[in-house]
Amino acid sequence: MTHPASQDDSSSQPSQGEPSQAPSGPVRSPTAHGRRRRPGPTRLPALGFGAAQLGNLYRVTTDEEARGAVGAAWDGGVRLFDTAPHYGIGTSERRLGALLASYPREEYLLSTKVGRLLVPGPGDGDDMAHGFAVPDSHRRVWDMSGAGIRRSHVESLERLGLDRVDVLYLHDPEEGPTEQAFAEALPTLAAMREEGLISHVGVGSKDVDVLLRAVRTGLVDVIMLSGRYTLLEQPAAAELLPACLEHGVEVVAVSVFNSGILSRPEVPDDAKYEYGTAPVDLLQRARHLAALAAEHGVQLPDLAVRYPLRHEAVSSVVLGMRTADQVRQNLERFARTIPEELWEQIDA
Ligand SMILES: NC(=O)c1ccc[n+]([C@@H]2O[C@H](COP(=O)([O-])OP(=O)(O)OC[C@H]3O[C@@H](n4cnc5c(N)ncnc54)[C@H](OP(=O)(O)O)[C@@H]3O)[C@@H](O)[C@H]2O)c1
Repeated sequence: MTHPASQDDSSSQPSQGEPSQAPSGPVRSPTAHGRRRRPGPTRLPALGFGAAQLGNLYRVTTDEEARGAVGAAWDGGVRLFDTAPHYGIGTSERRLGALLASYPREEYLLSTKVGRLLVPGPGDGDDMAHGFAVPDSHRRVWDMSGAGIRRSHVESLERLGLDRVDVLYLHDPEEGPTEQAFAEALPTLAAMREEGLISHVGVGSKDVDVLLRAVRTGLVDVIMLSGRYTLLEQPAAAELLPACLEHGVEVVAVSVFNSGILSRPEVPDDAKYEYGTAPVDLLQRARHLAALAAEHGVQLPDLAVRYPLRHEAVSSVVLGMRTADQVRQNLERFARTIPEELWEQIDA
């Protein structure tokens, strides 16, 4: 039996977008022509585990919850895990590495990110200003120089307790020294791939323009697209996803609940969108989608987790999860059959 976490399903698709960008129109399936794939592993697994929550994103995830979440993910067939130095200033990498240590390394894929180095200090408070409930034992320093990228990689391997990662993403280049990211970081990542230090070069961002620029360099194998191709809105559909097909770049869709507005069957008045309060027009759109789903006997989050995979460019959806219950529920959601008629209504 093909497990939901490993099936290669290109029959559906969703994502999240910038507050400043209007929801796009109907989703259309792109054509297959122009697709070029690099040699090596085929498409990434359809469902992955996002470990920002293991870095105490917004609130503490207990050790027991983290252990339960990773164990449930593994038992449910999930074999793709994503982390970053940014997530809890190293906490997510350390935790995820320790929790995966009991599993055979050759059986799973792991990604982490570069661009921010972690340096000691200040050590007298917490990291909530960056969204993480951890002590501020370290601070982040942007460094997208070649030496900075290589140092970040080595330090991540130390925290993870691993000797390799499969995908190394350049993390949020639009938020840091963007020109250095393109002039130094990306060529360095490509060189590291040639040297056999990493298998795939990635860029992770919520910024469609910076991702499009990265894809067009021809140096990138995979992008992690945050919130820009969801059930709610698809600003990546016009140019970015077709460019990914043209350049043979795989897409991993993340933040597919748009920060929460799509994560529950019913949309509350205080639903979150892009980490803030959702605007009225998006609440209305989400409720309309929830009502359509209910008419067909499914729920809004069922649609949200499946939607991005309807686009041919999208290989994977990586969901942020902090408990075993969330993992099991999401595995069930991911496996649910969505009537084609419902997708057609959504696309109309
Ligand atoms: N720039 C980048 O490269 C970038 C950007 C964003 C994300 N990412 C990656 O993508 C992963 C996922 O992104 P994300 O965390 O922004 O978004 P997400 O997957 O859309 O949302 C995660 C949140 O959804 C809630 N959730 C998950 N399963 C649930 C369930 N079954 N029932 C109710 N609520 C549920 C959890 O809320 P609670 O917090 O309430 O538990 C969780 O924190 C991250 O962990 C990270 O690995 C990368």
